[in-house]
Amino acid sequence: MSVSVTVVVLAAGKGTRMKSPRPKVLHRLAGRSMIHHVLAVAAELGPTRAVVVLAPDMANVAAEVESGPQPATIVFQEPQLGTGHALLVARDQLPATGEVLVLYGDTPLLTPATLRSLLETRRAAAAAVAVLGMRPPDPGGYGRLAFAGGALAAIVEERHADDELKRQGLCNAGIMAFDAARLGALLDALELRTPKNEYYLTDAVEHARARGWSCVALEMPWLEALGVNSQAQLAEAEAVLQDRLRQAAMAAGVTLIGPDTVFLAADTQLEEGAEIGPYVVFGPGVRVAQAAQILPFSHLEGVTIGPGAQIGPFARLRPGAEIAAGARVGNFVEVKNARLEAGAKANHLSYIGDARVGAKANIGAGTITCNYDGFAKHRTDIGAGAFIGSNTALVAPVTIGEGAVVGAGSTIDRDVPPGSLSIARGRQTDIPDGAARLRARRLSKT
Ligand code: UD1
Ligand code: MG
Repeated sequence: MSVSVTVVVLAAGKGTRMKSPRPKVLHRLAGRSMIHHVLAVAAELGPTRAVVVLAPDMANVAAEVESGPQPATIVFQEPQLGTGHALLVARDQLPATGEVLVLYGDTPLLTPATLRSLLETRRAAAAAVAVLGMRPPDPGGYGRLAFAGGALAAIVEERHADDELKRQGLCNAGIMAFDAARLGALLDALELRTPKNEYYLTDAVEHARARGWSCVALEMPWLEALGVNSQAQLAEAEAVLQDRLRQAAMAAGVTLIGPDTVFLAADTQLEEGAEIGPYVVFGPGVRVAQAAQILPFSHLEGVTIGPGAQIGPFARLRPGAEIAAGARVGNFVEVKNARLEAGAKANHLSYIGDARVGAKANIGAGTITCNYDGFAKHRTDIGAGAFIGSNTALVAPVTIGEGAVVGAGSTIDRDVPPGSLSIARGRQTDIPDGAARLRARRLSKT
């Protein structure tokens, strides 16, 4: 039987411990904001509806939610009187039947599999509430799960817990699933708690037990529940996520020569047989096709690499770069918003921006597409099989015809016809005996 799930993401907390002007859930992990990570996991559950609770001064978070992987209704909470209050504020958005799953915006490492197990556990027990428990190495600050006769009886916040409960130590991960039909009564029963003056959502467990409704707990791997409250925890979560992404890439047939030094984005697509050298960094939006090679110390963002292409070492590929099959981009080459067609080569020290480089064209060392005149960007079009000599400046807009040859050191500011040999540089003058005469003149002056 399928039950409809409404996901509620709580994210109105200020996150002051991040000590950053940016709201906590906009901090990024593997190139994706924390709130997008949480919404992506929610999306995998195929919810009938998602709701995100924010503080009214979080317009930038609201915009991020709107561009996220799961459509969601935004509800503003003011003031922020705790997790229970956050759900009370979202009450109009909650369904009368089905299931409500509560997630936190600052818990980005959850997997859909764990959430599905939680939902299944609740359904199997027909419980009013199901919670995820965990055993972190340092339980300080977490609520504790209290059991009576083997059944979950309460969640006790650390400040209210006695030593024995603190020691037995199954902690509340914060993720809770509710039977929607019974949630309303549990929210009605919540009371303001001192000394923090908050409504604790966790009190719903005791209120359910008081009504004779069962509650269940499921233990999960604590790393999945890792909450990000500080910059150090952000880095810790990044490390966990990077490890997952690397393992998944290798399991899919990608060679990572030094996996610990490769940084992937959450959306990096690497096809089987791709080979990634050490110290390669992927920003968002990269696709690498089969048998392409990315050599060490390269940085890629928003780019597509075709089959068998070779990139780097020390290449920088910026958004809009498209490197076709078998093309090569070598050391200290920057490519932006430009397409290198099949077999084209730019092996050394060049900038190629706002351009097309035709199939098998060869770009010599030190070539620059001068794409910006201080006001606007202009395009350079290089035909198939063209040869651009070293240290050439191509002043855009400009077209180099198919098969043309441009002499080294040229400054090209007019179109070059197909098949032309074009040279645009100062002429060389040779003065016989000039060196000797120059030296004589200098010496006579000393
Ligand atoms: C909560 C749990 C605790 C659990 C811990 C796990 C309660 C009372 N306690 O404590 O048992 O071990 O999480 O991390 O629920 N939020 C709002 N509005 C508010 C307050 C919080 O949206 O008014 C959001 C926060 O942005 C955050 C989440 O709810 O995403 C949790 O809030 P937080 O203050 O971190 O709760 P904890 O004290 O850590
Ligand atoms: Mg917290």
